[in-house]
Amino acid sequence: MTTPFLHIHGIRKVFGPVVATEHVDLTIGEGEFMTFLGPSGSGKSTTLYILAGFQDPTAGDILLRGRSILSTPSHKRNIGMVFQRYTLFPHLSVGENVAFPLRIRRMGQADIAEKVQRALKLVRLDGFEDRMPAKMSGGQQQRVALARALVYDPPVLLMDEPLSALDKKLREEIQHEIRRIHQETGVTILYVTHDQEEALRLSDRIAIFNQGKIEQVGTGPELYAHPATHFVAEFIGDSAFLSGTLTDITDNRAGLSFADGSIVRNIPLHAKGQVGKRAELMLRPERIALSAVKGPECATLPVTIENLTFLGNATTVTARTGWGETLTVRLNFGHPMTDRISRGDTLYVTWEPDAAHAFVKA
Ligand SMILES: Nc1ncnc2c1ncn2[C@@H]1O[C@H](COP(=O)(O)OP(=O)(O)O)[C@@H](O)[C@H]1O
Ligand SMILES: [Mg+2]
Repeated sequence: MTTPFLHIHGIRKVFGPVVATEHVDLTIGEGEFMTFLGPSGSGKSTTLYILAGFQDPTAGDILLRGRSILSTPSHKRNIGMVFQRYTLFPHLSVGENVAFPLRIRRMGQADIAEKVQRALKLVRLDGFEDRMPAKMSGGQQQRVALARALVYDPPVLLMDEPLSALDKKLREEIQHEIRRIHQETGVTILYVTHDQEEALRLSDRIAIFNQGKIEQVGTGPELYAHPATHFVAEFIGDSAFLSGTLTDITDNRAGLSFADGSIVRNIPLHAKGQVGKRAELMLRPERIALSAVKGPECATLPVTIENLTFLGNATTVTARTGWGETLTVRLNFGHPMTDRISRGDTLYVTWEPDAAHAFVKA
């Protein structure tokens, strides 16, 4: 087995009675863009700070090219970091801010000048050397912070919600820049966000954090199509969860019955289930169809149409099941069904065999 580039190994961190992270295990390839995605308080920043050396783990290890870096002090780890809030030195010009890590490393003046130029060019701020941070927009300041983090060519760059203080348009613009910089430099990036869209846009792979643990690691499409847990299914994309009871289980596929007597079958079942236990059927709005006729026996449910909402590129249809739960169906603009349905209609939802998932209730 080859040694992974970066190996986060069994990291646990407690703050008094608070368990911030537990069993965090992850390997990251060289040049990979890995994102930690999860709600606030799920342990993303703590994991990043342990990598940066701002905090020591309670247990576990961090291996870079097979060697532990835990005993290396933060400033010698050669890991770049960009934070959520602008952390530029307000009394230093842009050029001096970017030069700072090189001055600490006692680099010669000519080399510093050249590297600062290159870093500013990378973030498209050449010509801004003499500007003071206070005279720049939030987006520009984050670019300077990025240039400062990259100026000494660190093999790893950590970014902790670097765009969350910016408005949507600027955020998308800098996301684009971050992708370009990742491609141009080949630097390995560990990126923290609570925004699923940002994670999907940027990442090679995403680690989903929940309550201090990683629930699943995968590419965006993998997590979307094959969520391993209820939490992941809920966190990535939109979905409805319908509560039923497991009626049969064969080879990780299950049948479920519902309160109105409806039965579905052949649903991929995640986690161990037992016949008779409660479980939830997950359906994504764009992966189900509405039909006037009953679908195949195992993949259909009768519903009543409650509402239609026109969204421009699509119409979302709210449908109520016979036992009172609702789900949403998304019909893209121009879908022939859009004009054929109205409130109060009784129809059927249907789906392809792998478009539904079942999760056992915790
Ligand atoms: N310095 C600290 N002292 C005490 N508790 C902390 C400290 N840092 C983080 N925590 C706690 O650890 C948990 C994880 O926090 P954090 O890693 O910041 O989450 P995230 O970045 O995902 O929002 C939270 O419950 C948080 O309150
Ligand atoms: Mg955080």
